[in-house]
Amino acid sequence: MRVRKLMTAFVAAGIGAAGWFAAAAQRPVANGLTFLGEAVTSEQIDVGQAIYQDHCASCHGVRLEGEPDWRRRKASGRMPAPPHDATGHTWHHSDQELFTFTKSGLGAVLPDYESDMPAFGGC
Ligand code: HEC
Repeated sequence: MRVRKLMTAFVAAGIGAAGWFAAAAQRPVANGLTFLGEAVTSEQIDVGQAIYQDHCASCHGVRLEGEPDWRRRKASGRMPAPPHDATGHTWHHSDQELFTFTKSGLGAVLPDYESDMPAFGGC
């Protein structure tokens, strides 16, 4: 349940929707944005921004920009953290996929896939 709240807030914080995020910042209350079928509140947006900065920004960037040269595989063989703004591909994924990636890691969706993306299900 906590991860669901985290993800709702995180998505509300602007994942994959930088343009929307910029527009939403100028609005006093949450607009028609939903996550997993539920309306997102402006309070969740605030919480999401804080959670993002504390737990995600170290890899995905303070401004959602991702790691430098994020399309090029690292020497370790793993991929860098992609941007969560409109220049990345996060926004292509469904709410449920984003929830699962964050709760269980990418290995939950792609068996045997090695990734630096942690699973936050235990948080
Ligand atoms: C230690 C670094 C690190 C942290 C911290 C981190 N991530 Fe990631 N994340 C990654 C990497 C690396 C990838 C790319 C995975 C791959 O392709 O192997 C990724 C991928 C993702 C994806 C899939 C994006 C896409 O475009 O397919 C989502 C969603 C995601 N992360 C969400 C989060 C959220 C939400 C948080 C914070 C709660 C977070 N990440 C924290 C490293 C991190």
